[in-house]
Amino acid sequence: MAEQFKIRVRHGDIAGVRGSAVAVGLYKGAAVPEGAAASVDAASGGCVGAVLGSGDFKGKRGEALAIYPGGESPWERVLLLGLGERESFDADAARDVGGALAGLLRRINVEDAVCALPGEGSGTPADRLSRGLVEGVALGLYRYHAYFRDGRAEPLVLETLTLVEKNRGRIRAVERGTALGLDVAESMNFTRDLVNGPGNLVTPTYLANQAKALGKEYGFKVTVMSRAQCEKLGMGAFLAVAQGSAEPCKFIVMDYRGGSRGTVCLVGKGITFDTGGISLKPGAEMDLMKYDMGGSGSVLGAMRFAAARKVPLRVVGVIASTENMPGGRAYKPGDILTASNGVTIEVKNTDAEGRLVLADALVHAAKFEPDAVVDLATLTGACVIALGAATAAMGNDEWLLDAVKHAADGAGERVWPMPLWREYREKVKSKVADIRNSAGREAGTLTAGAFLGAFTDPYRWVHLDIAGAAWNDKAASGMTQGAAAGGVRTLCQFLTDWKRPKGKNRAPKPGPRTSLRGITPTPGPMASGKTGKRS
Ligand code: BES
Ligand code: MN
Ligand code: ZN
Repeated sequence: MAEQFKIRVRHGDIAGVRGSAVAVGLYKGAAVPEGAAASVDAASGGCVGAVLGSGDFKGKRGEALAIYPGGESPWERVLLLGLGERESFDADAARDVGGALAGLLRRINVEDAVCALPGEGSGTPADRLSRGLVEGVALGLYRYHAYFRDGRAEPLVLETLTLVEKNRGRIRAVERGTALGLDVAESMNFTRDLVNGPGNLVTPTYLANQAKALGKEYGFKVTVMSRAQCEKLGMGAFLAVAQGSAEPCKFIVMDYRGGSRGTVCLVGKGITFDTGGISLKPGAEMDLMKYDMGGSGSVLGAMRFAAARKVPLRVVGVIASTENMPGGRAYKPGDILTASNGVTIEVKNTDAEGRLVLADALVHAAKFEPDAVVDLATLTGACVIALGAATAAMGNDEWLLDAVKHAADGAGERVWPMPLWREYREKVKSKVADIRNSAGREAGTLTAGAFLGAFTDPYRWVHLDIAGAAWNDKAASGMTQGAAAGGVRTLCQFLTDWKRPKGKNRAPKPGPRTSLRGITPTPGPMASGKTGKRS
């Protein structure tokens, strides 16, 4: 849960800034302290040089060591931060350094820390360095310990972190990067709270209430539809998944109207617990499936960011949220559903539920005439096998795929493109309906993407499978084990950099790489909300 601490930016020589700890960066293999490290060394009796001379500190990226200079030193502790190679010190490295600093500050209970902006002489602009560092610190300080009886397991002692920059000409850039980094990290931590939350707390109703609270705080419209309203819209795929659960399902629409530069629609899978349904998952580690609402958590985080930063465009968040449960009312393998665009779906496996709830959400997104739609989902285990913690990207539009990939690169997230060739669309064809929700294990991530493509006409669309990126199995890059807010940084960057593409709001004629056509909706009136349930 977010604990309060302040980050300030100050201009001056670090030797003149007081605090109970001072942190300075050292590049790998540095023989003597330079820059801010030299200032601190001079003010603290040569303690930094002494450590470098000992060879006990290598300057490896992410290394952190606290030393206690004593004597006349203005600071009780001096914290040495390894920066790695100077040539490759960029915003990502700064984020790692921030994470290492946060870990150390927590461990030794520092109240007020002073830190020189690392990365001097690396060639990376100051706004990117400060942004990365601040993200790393704020993400690294995060803990989820809402449920310990005695309160916080490790209360945060830190009250202020003062970033010090010597060059007056860089101060504005440092301030800009700091503000942006904090907004990004706070949005990610918001997402992490939701995704770490257990399934008995984070229900569809809870997500809807969180969306409403965000709308109230930041002034955007939130509409929550219950089963009856979804039935009127013919959302037979979403409602089929929901029918096995005693928890009421919620279809959540957030509409932030920040300006006229275009409309971006963010769609999130909001399965608050995925048992697999009748196609029940094995018991081992099923508890992890509380994070199956990771896509919707990331959409909520990005909406918060968009509204907090007042991005000058319309951002619409669409979340289809339900549990996926077995039971007497649950949908079954073999059922045939009709989605809200009329496409009929054969259920091969009730554990392939994410694509079903997304189908109706993607159809709904078209109503906003978006310039771009990005969906996020913990969609396939196959994605984790293929890419590990990285995100797979698929879509129907090269321009949008590039824009998302570019945003990910700029934000320091791993996103990699995957193909949606005709072969994969063929594989999701059914013998008894327009399409089937599972085509087996082969190319599982791609057939899932091809399935979604049958519901994305007529807009530009990218699908992000964040099955690996939403959750850290163990602590990694300065963050704790647990929710990792995969996709949020990319979306923040994407919305910040957004420029409406030229031309119409629709994807160009599909080429061989991205084409998704070929699965035609059934003609005739739109579906009537039938879920294929026997009556
Ligand atoms: N939520 C899971 C995918 C998942 C698995 C996410 C592991 C994160 C970690 C999804 O609903 C699912 O069960 N997918 C199936 C699809 C299959 C039945 C076609 C899968 O990946 O096995
Ligand atoms: Mn599933
Ligand atoms: Zn799932």
